Amino acid sequence: MLQKRSQPDWRGKMKKLLHIAASPRLERSHSRRLANAFIAEFLKRNPDYRLAEIDIGAVAQPRFGEAGAAAKFKAPRELELTPAEAREWRNAQSSFEQLREADRLVVSTPMWNFSMPYHLKQWIDRVMQSGWSFGMEPGKGYVPLLGGKKALFVCACGGVYDTPEMLKLDHLRPYLRFWAEFNGLDAAVVSLEGTNLDQERLAGNEAAARSALSKLAEKF
Ligand SMILES: Cc1cc2nc3c(=O)[nH]c(=O)nc-3n(C[C@H](O)[C@H](O)[C@H](O)COP(=O)(O)O)c2cc1C
Repeated sequence: MLQKRSQPDWRGKMKKLLHIAASPRLERSHSRRLANAFIAEFLKRNPDYRLAEIDIGAVAQPRFGEAGAAAKFKAPRELELTPAEAREWRNAQSSFEQLREADRLVVSTPMWNFSMPYHLKQWIDRVMQSGWSFGMEPGKGYVPLLGGKKALFVCACGGVYDTPEMLKLDHLRPYLRFWAEFNGLDAAVVSLEGTNLDQERLAGNEAAARSALSKLAEKF
């Protein structure tokens, strides 16, 4: 489903639900499967929404490298960009526009090495720019610029983070919550933990995650 519709389609005046899918796994991905179930339910309840999906996990993303880093500081000062800088900046702008135009955001992601996979960080590094997703105001400091949008993070982890020791290792969900708040998104996080567990225990966790997503689909 994702591969066929990996290019967002912004035609028409319907509201937009943007799904950023960060797992490089397709059929076997737990985070994609759960996010797809949520999205199907949400769209059934909200026929005024259209879906745009961006497959950042399985489809190569535009680079944000040396040229992008240079443009990040030159563009706000209206300094002239080299062709390479302009190209990487345009790609970042286009990723941000897809986010800006969305009324609702769903990000599905695995936990990798206790944090997010680089695919998701690469997307964040394009869209999170001063003056776009957040601003800086004298006397106030950082101010969020994406207020009014709701976001849902659907996470899948091999382990189970249910003790203080395990929770200390989790750098995925705390960062996602921070990122959402910093940029003004009203965020919910639903996780399927223990995808490395035996089938029986996993089935119990999946039922709980699906039930949480189903409740959320009523008011997202
Ligand atoms: C490179 C890599 C690193 C991983 N690191 C962790 C980890 O630090 N903690 C954890 O709980 N699971 C870890 N896992 C397991 C995944 O989180 C788990 O397989 C999850 O289901 C992946 O999401 P997906 O099914 O949507 O692809 C890792 C998996 C891979 C491939």
